[in-house]
Amino acid sequence: MKALVIGSGGREHALAWKLLQSDTIQEVMCVPGNGGTAALPRCRNLSLTLDDFEGIARLALVNNLALVVIGPEQPLAAGMADYLRSQGLKVFGPNQDGAQIESSKAWAKALMEAAGIPTARAAVFTEAAAAIAYIQAQGAPIVVKADGLAAGKGVTVAQTEAEAIAAVQAAFGGQFGAAGQQVVIEEYLTGQEASVLAITDGVTIRPLQPAQDHKQIGEGDTGPNTGGMGAYAPTPVVPPELLDRIQATVLEPAIAALRDRGIDYRGVLYAGLMITPAGEPKVIEFNCRFGDPETQVVLPLLKTPLDRVLLACVEQRLADFPPLEWEPGTATCVVAAAGGYPDAYQKGMVIQGLDAAAEQGAVVFHAGTQQRGGQILANGGRVLGVTAVGESFEASLETAYRAIAEIEFETMYYRRDIGFRVRSNS
Ligand code: AMP
Ligand code: GLY
Repeated sequence: MKALVIGSGGREHALAWKLLQSDTIQEVMCVPGNGGTAALPRCRNLSLTLDDFEGIARLALVNNLALVVIGPEQPLAAGMADYLRSQGLKVFGPNQDGAQIESSKAWAKALMEAAGIPTARAAVFTEAAAAIAYIQAQGAPIVVKADGLAAGKGVTVAQTEAEAIAAVQAAFGGQFGAAGQQVVIEEYLTGQEASVLAITDGVTIRPLQPAQDHKQIGEGDTGPNTGGMGAYAPTPVVPPELLDRIQATVLEPAIAALRDRGIDYRGVLYAGLMITPAGEPKVIEFNCRFGDPETQVVLPLLKTPLDRVLLACVEQRLADFPPLEWEPGTATCVVAAAGGYPDAYQKGMVIQGLDAAAEQGAVVFHAGTQQRGGQILANGGRVLGVTAVGESFEASLETAYRAIAEIEFETMYYRRDIGFRVRSNS
């Protein structure tokens, strides 16, 4: 069968790459894809825009594409899955109603509270004065979040009241447009963060291997937040018994609460968790999609053919689907970014050393690249995700770093300390 992957990042490259490993997949089309998917055998990029629901549906119907996987949150929040389903297509990814779990933090908080899911204490505000009074009453540190999608930039972890108040003023002042006209202010949590991506058919939900990413640009997890500068899976921060607890206290109640609201959610439910010093998992946020770069480390470990897993969700057969099989060992991904990211950065730099990196035993997922005239050019803030699987955490890390050392492009930046939290614990 043939499949369609929507999106252009490292996550989508990993999805296309994994789908193509299945013996039932003949071809994958990507809209719009990137330089990495362009170079995959049996994979084709098509340059439609993500708001062209009709064009995408036509493409899928004309080419007999038996499965559509929607990568990013924006098209899910905009109702792409609803439209494609209305045209008779099989879609992995929630409808607009389910995508609210990511597109409105206030909506997600209300769902968590109703379902008794452990999360930071929070209050929701639609005007600045009340929000500021709340901050003054609670004191710092405190966390201010724009309600809507803000490309990962809507969260301020404020160490002082002044910083929190400035974040509230910026949000209501229009910094995030409509996304910031409502803010969620929440209790500051400490601990280790982990990402549990779970697949669901709306009734049954199953976790994938737990992962951890490094969100901040700077070494030692310092500086501004990014989409993620590196990741690894499985993480020892979430051992099997903790994963069982997350299944019971977070994932199952979330799916039940979605169902209570009449929402038939088929796709990934991504729980961003804080594992508190007491060992309790608390939800920081839910996402309605695969994580990026977490997908780049989770999928290389998956042995069960991905198309069969995703179709079991789409066709609501997950309860009868055999347990997922995993490669032993660990996968690590180190992201190469364009200098300046997450602020302004250059594009168009020629990337060298991709073959040499692969020869070191890594898979190089393209996050923001473009193929032009036989060359691969940087075309985004996060450019590449160099990923390696190893018998141990150390081995995967070593291979990933040996491989990334082969790669060069002007302004290239990467963190040298991916995995430091695991290494400092071992
Ligand atoms: P979010 O977009 O909600 O995942 O937030 C982005 C990042 O801000 C998270 O990955 C955390 O590092 C941090 N963060 C969010 N909420 C909290 C919280 N309640 N306490 C501490 N840190 C938080
Ligand atoms: N790596 C964080 C995310 O995908 O939201």
